Amino acid sequence: MRGFISLIIIIIFTSVTYYFIGPVAHSIEGGAKVTDSHFSYADIPALKLQGNVAKGKALVMGAGACVGCHSIEVAGIKPSMSPDVAAKAYGVMPPDLSNAGIIYSPKFLAAYIADPVHAMKLGSKFNAQTGKTFPMPAFAGAGGNKQQEIADMVAYLKSIAISKNKLTPKLAFEDSCGRCHAVRYEKWTQIGSTPKFKNKKQKLAFELKVADYQDSLHKYLGSLPPDLSTIVESKTDHFINTFVQNPQNHIKGTAMPRVGITADTAKKVMAYLEKSGNPTQAERESLGKDIMIYLVIMAIFAFLWKQTVWKDLH
Ligand code: HEC
Ligand code: HEC
Repeated sequence: MRGFISLIIIIIFTSVTYYFIGPVAHSIEGGAKVTDSHFSYADIPALKLQGNVAKGKALVMGAGACVGCHSIEVAGIKPSMSPDVAAKAYGVMPPDLSNAGIIYSPKFLAAYIADPVHAMKLGSKFNAQTGKTFPMPAFAGAGGNKQQEIADMVAYLKSIAISKNKLTPKLAFEDSCGRCHAVRYEKWTQIGSTPKFKNKKQKLAFELKVADYQDSLHKYLGSLPPDLSTIVESKTDHFINTFVQNPQNHIKGTAMPRVGITADTAKKVMAYLEKSGNPTQAERESLGKDIMIYLVIMAIFAFLWKQTVWKDLH
């Protein structure tokens, strides 16, 4: 009987450690106090005006000046500078806008065009006192109804974006986070995926460009955004999701902007980060279950065997 009780105690102790202490430690780390508003961006008013795609296109290509800084690959607009050179000029590479219409919440996009610093919640960093100006100017209007013009541009960006089910985790991450965060386990750098090198010189040239880009980024943001390869190991989903929706709720004055992605984009970004942080998770989980089953069976046999041996001795 004593053997059986010991066995039960060991099982209880192991389960408590596994199922209780881990999650508790995580929730302390995970910013459990910040509530998740599920990417609703309640502070931004709904986008009520119906946009006109053709007018929006004319604005994006013309008076809106977007293509002066941004590439739009699907519309045949190539980047005018390489990422390292663009970062010297703007601090960061202005992202390609091909899929902005699906990656960002439409009302966020509208608010962003009207006032990027306000939408990103970076007012404490870019203001008259600090003397720092944000690299993307607020859209001043093109002579008509400014709100209508913005709705037109949003409609155009939505019309050229790929469909939601074609937006892969990789694309979602690279478009919305990849200009600032490297993910070395996925071979992602802020200037793009690490290519295969033919020789050492090529490798060094690439690494020098990454280093140049990171220098500019550091100067622009005041710190280098961390590599996110293993972020899912140290932070909970809850932390990452609420942090992305409003970084200021977690770290007052942080240089990480609110990026305004939709709930769907966020789910895909998480999938990308999970894959990077846990490349063998599925394997490990099924192996873990097998080992548990094996241990339980062995424990039963050990117990029965002990019973038989002791029976004769009593
Ligand atoms: C003078 C250059 C410049 C112009 C003009 C400009 N942008 Fe930007 N834009 C940038 C830079 C630089 C960033 C990246 C800022 C950052 O990440 O801190 C950016 C970021 C963005 C983002 C990403 C927002 C996010 O939440 O991550 C979108 C969308 C965008 N711009 C759309 C536009 C549109 C639409 C226009 C035209 C109305 C436009 N931009 C005009 C430089 C520019
Ligand atoms: C314009 C640059 C920029 C973009 C775009 C950006 N980040 Fe960040 N991020 C930062 C900076 C800077 C920090 C460091 C903040 C600090 O330490 O105050 C940071 C920090 C973080 C952290 C916290 C890491 C930690 O250890 O606490 C997470 C998580 C994160 N970013 C996720 C994302 C995700 C996911 C995206 C895309 C949806 C994204 N970021 C887009 C600049 C950026």
